[in-house]
Amino acid sequence: MPDIAFINGRFLPWHEATVPIEDRGFQFGDGVYEVIRTYRGRPFELDAHLNRLDRSAHELSLIQPYTRAQWTEWIQQGIRAAGYAEAKVYLQITRGVAARDHVFPPNVAPTVVMTIRELASFPAKTRETGVITKTCEDLRWGRCDIKSVNLLANVLAREEAKRAGVFEAILVKEGLVTEGSVSNVMVVQSGAVVTAPEGPRILSGVTRTVVLELARAAGIPIREEFLTVESLYTADEVFLTGTTVEVLAVVQVDGRTIGTGRPGPVVKALASRWAALTGESPLL
Ligand SMILES: Cc1ncc(COP(=O)(O)O)c(C=O)c1O
Repeated sequence: MPDIAFINGRFLPWHEATVPIEDRGFQFGDGVYEVIRTYRGRPFELDAHLNRLDRSAHELSLIQPYTRAQWTEWIQQGIRAAGYAEAKVYLQITRGVAARDHVFPPNVAPTVVMTIRELASFPAKTRETGVITKTCEDLRWGRCDIKSVNLLANVLAREEAKRAGVFEAILVKEGLVTEGSVSNVMVVQSGAVVTAPEGPRILSGVTRTVVLELARAAGIPIREEFLTVESLYTADEVFLTGTTVEVLAVVQVDGRTIGTGRPGPVVKALASRWAALTGESPLL
């Protein structure tokens, strides 16, 4: 089954899918992206992802050249052509190709790229045991709400986590927990789910929104406020949310055991509601 590549309105063979060296995404990180996954061949929360793509593009005065109907058609066409059981759809819009100069080039069409690749299923064992994490300094810029391709600080944090032999880097800015390097972070404190508020310090995850809705529906109180690192260590439960991790328990942060050291009841309840929603078999 083929990985699918698409550039500027055209599907093309993977090895022919290249972008010029003066693309501003390559030279300046001047672009935005989305990652969407499928469940049983259908893109999950497609509208929410395309809304966020529109918003990210708008915030950077980037032209979003395609309509919702066009995107939807191409994404579905690509998923069908790839034929994977589950797929990861990557969309990217950059400001286009122009002689290198920081200011926006006039009259340049954006470069639009889509790839569709197989999504490896998340190891069931890891879900059962939960994952270990470490905190890292959040070195990112002041507009983390924009899903920009400029991911250097996330890359550095993720590498730091990998070198430390842990699953995810939990980012901390001025003593407060913002989010993970590729996920949102939630904790359970006295039965309530607490997570950083939307705003410039976090990327508001599509999964985050759905998980908060699931928590509300389950009657679980929610507080959107920043947590200190100390309150992370002493939380009853900690978990990550994200398109690829879904709802994933964290059982250790910086070598400190969270709760009982096993996925707790709230994360289990939310993971099981997530599984029911997405049609997967219960994960915990
Ligand atoms: C920094 C960051 N926060 C949060 C998320 C989770 O977002 P979503 O649930 O939309 O995948 C991601 C996903 O890539 C991310 O990179």
